[in-house]
Amino acid sequence: MTQVSSEEFGALPDGRRVRRFLLRSDSVSLRVQTFGAIVTGLETKDRRGNAADLILGFDTLEGYINKHPYFGAVIGRVANRIAEGKFSIDGKDYQLPINNGPNSIHGGLKGFDKVLWTPEALPNGVRFSMTSADGEEGYPGELKVSVSYVLDGKELTINYKAEATKTTPINLTNHSYFNLAGHGTPNIYDHEVSIEADYYLPVDKTSIPTGEIASVANTYFDLRKPVVLENLIENKLMEGFDHNFCLSLSKQRSPCARVYHQPSGRLLEVETTQPGIQFYTANFLDGSLKGKGGAVYPKHSAFCLETQNWPDAVNKKNFPDALLRPGEEYNHTTWFTFSTVK
Ligand code: BGC
Repeated sequence: MTQVSSEEFGALPDGRRVRRFLLRSDSVSLRVQTFGAIVTGLETKDRRGNAADLILGFDTLEGYINKHPYFGAVIGRVANRIAEGKFSIDGKDYQLPINNGPNSIHGGLKGFDKVLWTPEALPNGVRFSMTSADGEEGYPGELKVSVSYVLDGKELTINYKAEATKTTPINLTNHSYFNLAGHGTPNIYDHEVSIEADYYLPVDKTSIPTGEIASVANTYFDLRKPVVLENLIENKLMEGFDHNFCLSLSKQRSPCARVYHQPSGRLLEVETTQPGIQFYTANFLDGSLKGKGGAVYPKHSAFCLETQNWPDAVNKKNFPDALLRPGEEYNHTTWFTFSTVK
C-alpha cells in the first residue's frame, strides 16, 4: 500500500497556492507538485540500504518558476521539436512560437510545465488535470488533459489522457533528469544503458529528424546490448545522446529501456505504450543552476528517458500519427521500475 499525503509548496506570483504530493511505498518515495505536474524528488535505496534522491531539481518553488531545462515536468502540448514551429491540418497552416533555434520545442513559451494543474488524490497516487485553451501557444482546439502518477511497490506508472475539440498535434511526456548515483553526482559515465530499438532517427544540425529511419547496427546508437556510457561519451566517441529511438508501434506495454548503475546496484527499467523514446544525456546542462541542497548539475550529470512520439511527426508522413481528433482519446502509459541488483 502506498501512503499519499500532501503539503503546501509555496505560491505563484499571482498568489495561487502550489501543493506537493508525497507518494511513499515500501521502496520508493516520490514527490510531485501541482505546478507543472513536476516530479521534484524520487528516493530509493542502494544495495546497501542507503537512500538517495535520484532526480535533479530545486529546493523551492521559485527554482521551478524561473527558467530551467524542464526538470521533472510534464511536457505538452507537443513535447520535442516541430520544425520552424509550422504544421498544417486539413489545409490550414499553423505557426507556433519559436523557442529553440529555428524550431518550436516542448509546447512553446508557456508549456504544460508552467501550468498549475488541479490535483485529485488517488488510492496509490495522484491525478493532475488541466485544460489548454483553443489557440493557446498557437495550437488548435481546447484540450482537456490528465496525468496520473501511481506508485505500487517498486513501480511508478505515469498515465496520460487527453481529449480535444479540434484536431491537434499532441505528444505528452515526463522530462525527469535521473542520476542513479543520486542527483548532484557529477556525471553518469558509470551508468550502463540499453534501449530496445533497432532503429533511431538521425537529425539535422537543429536536431530535427532528417526523415530517415536508420538502423542502429554498426553505430553508437546500437544500445540493444548494454553499453557503459564512459565508453561512448567520456571517451569522446560522441558528444552525448539527444536522439529518438524507434520502439514497438504496437501501443501495447513493451520493454523499452534499462539503466543499471553497478556501484550502487540501482536498476531502472522502463516500459511504455509509446512509439519512441528520446534518450538525452543532459548535454546542455552547464553547472550554472543551483540545485537541491546546493548541488550543481554539470553537462552529462543526468539522463532523461522521455517516452513519446517521434520528433516533428506532425510534419513527417512516414512517422507515427501525431494528431488527436475530436471524439478520440489520447491514452499512453509509461512504467518506471526501480530495483537493486545484489
Ligand atoms: C531535448 C534537448 C533539450 C532538453 C531540454 C530534451 O527533450 O531533446 O535537446 O535540450 O529537452 O530542453
